[in-house]
Amino acid sequence: MLSKKEIQKLIEGRITEDKFRDFKLVSHFLSQSKQSNKAMNIFFNALKNSTPFPYAFGYTLVNGLKIEITKNVLHPGPETLAIIDQTIKEIKKRKFKIILDLCTGSGSVAICIAKNSNTSVVAVDISDAALKVARKNAKNNQVNIKFIKSNMFSSLGAKKFNLIVSNPPYVMTGEIKRLPEFIKNFSPRIAIDGGKDGLYFHKIILESAMKYLNPSGILIIECEDGQDKKIEKIIAKNKWKILKKIKNRFDNVRGFVLESASI
Ligand SMILES: C[S@@+](CC[C@H](N)C(=O)[O-])C[C@H]1O[C@@H](n2cnc3c(N)ncnc32)[C@H](O)[C@@H]1O
Repeated sequence: MLSKKEIQKLIEGRITEDKFRDFKLVSHFLSQSKQSNKAMNIFFNALKNSTPFPYAFGYTLVNGLKIEITKNVLHPGPETLAIIDQTIKEIKKRKFKIILDLCTGSGSVAICIAKNSNTSVVAVDISDAALKVARKNAKNNQVNIKFIKSNMFSSLGAKKFNLIVSNPPYVMTGEIKRLPEFIKNFSPRIAIDGGKDGLYFHKIILESAMKYLNPSGILIIECEDGQDKKIEKIIAKNKWKILKKIKNRFDNVRGFVLESASI
């Protein structure tokens, strides 16, 4: 049996987004499987091939919830965890009831919201394969979410929400080939390609989200390192007010909390 120290040592040299989170996931996977031969093979193959653990194990842990991950969805990174925390805080503080998760992917954001608040959650994605994973994750975590296949807002009709949260694709098309192997080789293109300037989806969201929000509603949107200044221009142009910038541990802006500037 591998001890915690041995696991730590084995994953030490890996290039990863968050070593502590990797350690927690590996420990969970190995203890759940009682370190069976099959599980140990999966673990050692992942180490050998530099496969991100969520893709090797077929799941990740988000706020203590087990979220299935397949090749058709992105596994939520540390910045998405910060977006989830902030969203749940805002929902509780403002006693919000109707929430939209736009670009839901694995459903992790929507599921954490539904699990941690008394709200109705709608979740949208354009990918059938992602929606299939998200539906399964919602069922496994015993939450009721309305999933809609939609190209951004197009199938939402006249629905209005208290809060819209989105982690849209945001990598510049030309930068995809330069991403580290452990991201590039495992991320579905549809989940990361944000067009020429990486901001194709941010522009759509910032131009349209106000129509889908109640007057006191808020928008929470994730972004890439270094996109914040350009996004602030789009925010101002579309008459949003910045309530908060969500930063990562390196003090880089990775998301915004916004409300209409006319409130
Ligand atoms: C960055 S991933 C979202 C990850 C997800 N929030 C999570 O943390 O698990 C972006 C998602 O946007 C979806 N997407 C791409 N284009 C879209 C569009 N035009 N309309 C709706 N969803 C879209 C992709 O299928 C992908 O699941």
